[in-house]
Amino acid sequence: MAKTSKKEMEGEVYYPSEQVVTQARVKDWEALASKAEKDLEGFWEAEASELEWYKKWDKVLDRSNPPFFKWFVGARTNIVHNAIDRHLKTHRKNQLALIWESEDGKEERTFSYYAMNREVSRMANVIKSMGVKKGDRVTIYMGRIPEIAFAMLACAKIGAIHSVVFGGFSVDALQGRIDDSQSKLVITMDRSFNNGKVIPLKQTVDEALKRCPTVENVIVVKRVDEDIPMEAGRDHWYHDLLTLPIANGKCPTEELDAEDPLYILYTSGSTGKPKAILHTHGGYMVGTYATLKYVFDVQDEDRYWCAADPGWVTGHSYIVYGPLINGTTSFMFEGGPTYPYPNRWWQCIEKYGITILYTAPTAIRGLMRFGEAWPNKHDLSSLRLLGSVGEPINPEAWKWYHRVIGKEKCPIMDTWWQTETGMFMITPTPTVPLKPGSGTRPFFGQTAEIVDEEGKPVEDGNEGYLVLKNPWPSMLRTIYGDDERYVKQYWTKNPGKYTTGDSAKRDKDGYYWIIGRVDDVIKVSGHRLGTAEVESALVSHSAVAEAAAIGLPHEMKGQGIHCFVILRSGVAPSAELAEELRQHVAHSMGAIARPEEVKIIDKLPKTRSGKIMRRVLKARAQGLPEGDVSTLEE
Ligand code: PRX
Repeated sequence: MAKTSKKEMEGEVYYPSEQVVTQARVKDWEALASKAEKDLEGFWEAEASELEWYKKWDKVLDRSNPPFFKWFVGARTNIVHNAIDRHLKTHRKNQLALIWESEDGKEERTFSYYAMNREVSRMANVIKSMGVKKGDRVTIYMGRIPEIAFAMLACAKIGAIHSVVFGGFSVDALQGRIDDSQSKLVITMDRSFNNGKVIPLKQTVDEALKRCPTVENVIVVKRVDEDIPMEAGRDHWYHDLLTLPIANGKCPTEELDAEDPLYILYTSGSTGKPKAILHTHGGYMVGTYATLKYVFDVQDEDRYWCAADPGWVTGHSYIVYGPLINGTTSFMFEGGPTYPYPNRWWQCIEKYGITILYTAPTAIRGLMRFGEAWPNKHDLSSLRLLGSVGEPINPEAWKWYHRVIGKEKCPIMDTWWQTETGMFMITPTPTVPLKPGSGTRPFFGQTAEIVDEEGKPVEDGNEGYLVLKNPWPSMLRTIYGDDERYVKQYWTKNPGKYTTGDSAKRDKDGYYWIIGRVDDVIKVSGHRLGTAEVESALVSHSAVAEAAAIGLPHEMKGQGIHCFVILRSGVAPSAELAEELRQHVAHSMGAIARPEEVKIIDKLPKTRSGKIMRRVLKARAQGLPEGDVSTLEE
């Protein structure tokens, strides 16, 4: 890619090479963007028409009851029909859908679309035999193995709603999510592997289920050849279930309404418990299909690798659904990037001829730390596109990724989006000139705005709140079971617009620069955690009376968690206790939430109405001005 500084664009700009332009599906970004701008419904209708429907829509978008938008109204579909069934009638049937490699590299499993159908159908039949019906919730708590995708697809196939809980979460986080969703069934595995560590998933399920009365059955996929406790009547080995006649490879795909729920996924918000974000079959299917097609420009010959975890939205949209709907060959790796050595990913790219790599800035920074020698040992020439997601990518990491991994020929798709959006919202496509650290402009059909406290657009170059103006097909439909919170959280502060919770700037070229969250969400290594969850983990410890958690900049993780606690009277402060509290948070929420530090203090800054002023704690910790403290109690 030629690195030039054209006068008409501000800052450092990377233009696409001729080869990228020749190969690209969208050569004229401006033309497609302006077409979608003029006719939003028409744009999405054309995308939807590329897929198969049992019955087409009567109306593309129903705006009659905002913010409860409906897409493809009256259409009949099932996302699995487009992710799997439709490919079985074409040359894709025998193409690879999934290539998987174990952490230790000793095992490899591959599944064609035909095989995928068989595996998903068998699991769907097993789930059905446990009494799971359309609309029932199923919690999935697994590591990165093919069965996590089968489980999600099996639920979708029969119209059940999956709720995947990230395998790095621990007891309290899992219990809260099972309980809130009222799941009847949990699908898990004995153990998982991650970056050299063994995670005892089933043991965590056992602990969580002591407080989850709705769960009737647990399906356990065996990953390790060791015995673990199984509760008779409740726990079932998946490999045993597969020997039953019911587990045959034929299962009809349930015909659903386009607006029927597909999944819920819990994510942290500004206050209180994590929110169950609800996505539906029809719109989400079209949104993930079109964005992956245009942004990563997937082609039949690609070997696409989204290195996220299936337990986060990135995995839902761009490991499972988007790639399958596009008929892509995906790679899934069980382990992490640096175990046993920091060349683990580069080995995989060379071995499988990966052409597209999509990962997070935190992983890039982590790999950068080990130097160029590791990637340089491997042939990475198969790569043609790179991607980034989850947090702002610092220009230094961007340039390293571009030069050392992409050999200056692979454009980087910096995709800004959220669990709530379901699909990329601010993102380039391969031919768009890039600026390191900017996700460029909104995707086709979307308009973003940067507004001030009163909701008025700010001038370019100034920081403000990022809002989105148009509905989009894969938008969340509500917070499951809490329509009121949905309206309040996203649509009240800026009426008629979707409030993202992020702050950003727009430059004079119309490029967006995300600054970060403006609410009490902390992004640790790209993982979204809420201060409220960390605080409630802390106060669940018998020594703690009150707690506050904040995110502070962290070189590797983007943000790290810093906590302040007030002890109960009579409890003596000590360094050992502070350390115990760090471990306590990790035990109850998961290792990703382990605070960088826990400080024992006597007083927390609060407003007169008793709200903790985390903003003040943050400023103090960084030695910055405390801002407006007029509401601070005394
Ligand atoms: O702050 C933004 C950040 O991640 C938040 C959404 O987190 P989550 O729902 O966990 O989804 C992450 C994966 C889609 C956003 O509000 N974020 C996500 N992508 C980017 C980003 N910040 C800057 N640049 C990005 N590319």
